[in-house]
Amino acid sequence: MKLESTFAHLREQERVQIVFVCLGNICRSPLAEGIANALYKPHANAPKLEFSSAGTSGFHNGDPIDPRSIAIARENGIDIAHYTSKQVSLYAHSDVDLLVAMDRSNYATLIAMGFESDKIALLGDFGLDGAEVPDPYYGGADGFAKVFAMLQGGISNLLASLSYSRSGVWKRL
Ligand code: 4NP
Repeated sequence: MKLESTFAHLREQERVQIVFVCLGNICRSPLAEGIANALYKPHANAPKLEFSSAGTSGFHNGDPIDPRSIAIARENGIDIAHYTSKQVSLYAHSDVDLLVAMDRSNYATLIAMGFESDKIALLGDFGLDGAEVPDPYYGGADGFAKVFAMLQGGISNLLASLSYSRSGVWKRL
């Protein structure tokens, strides 16, 4: 993944569609979507960012989000209670610009499904030394708190990477 060349291209666009991807789309990626929506501040001269999330598996299609993710989001003032799980294959023929995988297994599955490698990043590549966002499904509430903190860090870095003015010379907003 060549993050810099990917972003040079994305910064030219009016609109950038970003999909956060995990296995089930009930724990990690819905939290990522909620955090991104909460942290994003639209700017008239920068690309308009749009966020969604999906799972590679489809195991939980149509299901509500895991109550533990809803709870940690709510503790941080973010409401994701209305989200429902969907499979990433829905985006196969869409004009999605960037798929952000939570772990290397998600990344490999996206490649196997035929998504272009130039459009896939690992959340951990955004200032987290390539760390994987661990699957908290079989653990306790502390795992969800750790996931929340990692997502908050990686997503603020991702947003900073795309917060550039399009008018003339690039200027970080
Ligand atoms: P997620 O967590 O990928 O962060 O949504 C999981 C949710 C469900 C399962 C695995 C991981 N599952 O095997 O059902």
